[in-house]
Amino acid sequence: MTPEQVKLVQESFKMVAPIADTAADIFYDRLFATAPQVRAMFPQDMKDQKKKLMQMIGTAVTNLHQVDKIADAVAKLGARHVKYGVKDEHYDIVGAALLFTLKQGLGDKFTPDTESAWTATYGLLAGVMKDAAKNGA
Ligand code: HEM
Repeated sequence: MTPEQVKLVQESFKMVAPIADTAADIFYDRLFATAPQVRAMFPQDMKDQKKKLMQMIGTAVTNLHQVDKIADAVAKLGARHVKYGVKDEHYDIVGAALLFTLKQGLGDKFTPDTESAWTATYGLLAGVMKDAAKNGA
């Protein structure tokens, strides 16, 4: 990722942070509408899960310019996801729901460059997670 992309992601996430609860609602509504088969993998009550997801994305985004600092934690997260029943093919579905959420949340500010930067960010995180799922963290 380029430094400009890192900046775009960090600045756009700052705009989403104040509406984190709404963003989490949009994300999971979209995820379960497009992939109802994954609903059963999650707990009935999604309150904690929503908080954890936004926190983890926040941590990743904050450290995007020093990705080696979080690589280990992200790899361990990927290894835990195997236990949750997550498979490689789920990552694209989740990535699409994330981009949809950002588009809804950011409106006009979700420019093509911002979209590419987020696509790269998600690809990076998902790549580390999938690699750890395959090869161990
Ligand atoms: C970059 C991608 C992802 C991030 C940052 C992320 C983040 C998280 C976090 C922080 C947790 C809390 C538990 C923990 O820390 O172990 C979690 C749990 C979970 N995630 Fe993800 N996740 C990602 C991708 C996915 C994908 C692709 C799926 C597939 C549907 C998924 C399904 C789940 C499930 C089922 C749980 C466990 C819920 C529970 O039993 O409490 N995640 N995720």
